[in-house]
Amino acid sequence: MVSKPKGVFGFTEEELTRVDPVVLRTLIHERTHHTIEVLIYRILAGKMEVPRDFGETVEFLLDLWRRRGLPMDAPDIRWVVNYLRLAKVLRSGGTVKLETKLPKPFTEEEMRVVEKLLFGRRSIRQWAPRPVPEEMIRKILYAGLMAPQGCNVGSTRFIVLRDPEEQRLVSSDIPIENGVMILVCQDMHVYQALGFDKRVPQNIYYDAAAAADHMLLMAHALGLGGVWLTHGEETQRRIGEYFGLPETFVTRCHIVVGWPAEAPIKSARMSRDEVIIGRG
Ligand SMILES: Cc1cc2nc3c(=O)[nH]c(=O)nc-3n(C[C@H](O)[C@H](O)[C@H](O)COP(=O)(O)O)c2cc1C
Repeated sequence: MVSKPKGVFGFTEEELTRVDPVVLRTLIHERTHHTIEVLIYRILAGKMEVPRDFGETVEFLLDLWRRRGLPMDAPDIRWVVNYLRLAKVLRSGGTVKLETKLPKPFTEEEMRVVEKLLFGRRSIRQWAPRPVPEEMIRKILYAGLMAPQGCNVGSTRFIVLRDPEEQRLVSSDIPIENGVMILVCQDMHVYQALGFDKRVPQNIYYDAAAAADHMLLMAHALGLGGVWLTHGEETQRRIGEYFGLPETFVTRCHIVVGWPAEAPIKSARMSRDEVIIGRG
């Protein structure tokens, strides 16, 4: 067994052996991010020495995860295992060669697609009575999951509502007909475990926003129309009660997607020069 290092957010070893797996997973994510991922590329660039305990905190946490019989083949855990492997090699004085490549500019053709996606998306608020295939919803959810998230904590959860009765639990300022509603939810346990609800509370909202935006872009690429909608505490309470969710599980915002039944004029923005308020 690996001995407990410092820097696991005040949890004792005993607490970590019985803490909610969601919390343990959060610690594994965050520690991998802050104690390996953000350092390793500086090390590889020769700008930093390998810390003596490089990767040991994550090793300790992952060992607990493994000994509790929690899944080792989940994609996020495999990502952790890979970083641990690299950290171990560097710690023992070895060298690593990454398979990854530097990003390259898109080709002109690829850029046209990106521009079509980013500048062609618009909010659509009426939908045709045509079923949205489950496969499309899964693609949209995956896009939401792949959005950036503060400190890679992994708090985002989704609720998909197709039933109009259930959709009425969610306050929206527009009538929802024929759309699929996706609630962007968060497991607050994740933030609380790290004290992020106090230290970086803004990340909670940003995480949800990034997920919603990614999903709307994927919906647009699939030929669906979507809109971002706001809801507040009343909806959070109703959804929590209806699904019997723990108090730490909060719905943050929602999007509705469906086959478009309107073609709105694309909204415009102020000119680019007007919005640049500082320039280096
Ligand atoms: C944080 C946020 C909250 C929004 N809330 C609502 C809403 O409650 N109802 C609505 O009809 N649209 C809502 N929208 C969509 C905006 O009205 C829309 O994005 C904006 O008018 C720009 O139009 P476009 O999306 O077509 O570019 C929201 C968008 C964001 C980012």
